[in-house]
Amino acid sequence: MIGVRNGARRRARLVALGAEVPERVVTNADMAKVVDTTDEWIYSRTGIKERRFVADDEAASDLAARAAEKILTEAGMDPLELDTLIIPTASPDHLFPATATLVADRIGAHRAAAFDILAGCTGFIYGLAQGTALIESGLASNVLVLGAEALTRITDQTDRRTCVLFGDAAAGALLVGAPEDEVTGFLGFELGADGSGGLDLVVPAGGSRMPAQSGPYEPAQSCIQMNGREVFKFATRVMVDSCTKLLEALEMHVDEIDLLVPHQANQRIIDHAISRLGIPPEKVFNNLERYGNTSSASIPLAMLEAREAGLLAPGDVTLLVGFGAGLTWGSTIMRYEPT
Ligand code: COA
Repeated sequence: MIGVRNGARRRARLVALGAEVPERVVTNADMAKVVDTTDEWIYSRTGIKERRFVADDEAASDLAARAAEKILTEAGMDPLELDTLIIPTASPDHLFPATATLVADRIGAHRAAAFDILAGCTGFIYGLAQGTALIESGLASNVLVLGAEALTRITDQTDRRTCVLFGDAAAGALLVGAPEDEVTGFLGFELGADGSGGLDLVVPAGGSRMPAQSGPYEPAQSCIQMNGREVFKFATRVMVDSCTKLLEALEMHVDEIDLLVPHQANQRIIDHAISRLGIPPEKVFNNLERYGNTSSASIPLAMLEAREAGLLAPGDVTLLVGFGAGLTWGSTIMRYEPT
């Protein structure tokens, strides 16, 4: 990528969406064959009925490459036109290189800068903010933000407190530059982080704190460990706070929101937040029943399915909100305006 600030003012606009989910469907009944749980417990506590698992030889980049190709096809864009590929992921192929570099190579985006973002399930919102900043500063024109997760590969499938929650998917959006006078694109962002709760949602081993070679560790140490109750309290609080602060900063009323697409972690968290925000359920799109929590892929996967269901139409004012490991949170309000 090469870009210089040329004084032109412009907006970033989201023009295409796409996703790839693994073929293998794992139902709550399947989970109950592996750990001591029931469909009733999982569904009543989380709203999840089934999730997708990658194959044993698949990683995040495999899903991401296929999703990226779909998005570029929808946009009619050659991969060589991409300036930047941003992959938010909590389950990268490796600690390094960035999964984005592997995907850029696979799809032929040979002119693109490529990097990952580590912001847990908030990664897609952080990625949208980064892509918007690159475009609006004049440094890039075409940015692909693609959440990619193979979370089941880093989940302890014997831990019933976590294994029922997570699933695999890649999903994302293409951002392009539009003239500033168009009333479109991203109206604002509210982003935050509170590392004091960082260890409430953590993969302890494999980094420089507990290097892989200084093991052997319990298998669980290389997997997601979560203090579910603390994360639940955090999530319900920040979802409401983040959306409220953003609406206030934009001097908007909640009634102006046509559609809310929240991070798909837990139906009870979503229900609690929308009732506090005063957003009616018919303006909220959820699909976690079928995919579980796919972390940085969950919001774009839900946006895509909302569009397929006729709930995301051109011009719609859409509120996106996420929260996750870090602990992090973020929200944005955008006008969906495909080309
Ligand atoms: N099946 C059956 N029982 C389970 C279970 C499962 N899959 N998982 C936990 N339990 C048990 C616990 O062992 C505990 O039993 P005990 O009282 O005998 O020790 C009991 O259920 C209650 O556990 P608790 O953790 O208090 O349940 P909860 O009502 O808080 O629900 C979560 C657990 C994980 C569903 C909930 O805390 C949650 O959704 N947290 C947020 C998680 C999240 O969204 N993380 C991702 C953020 S991006």
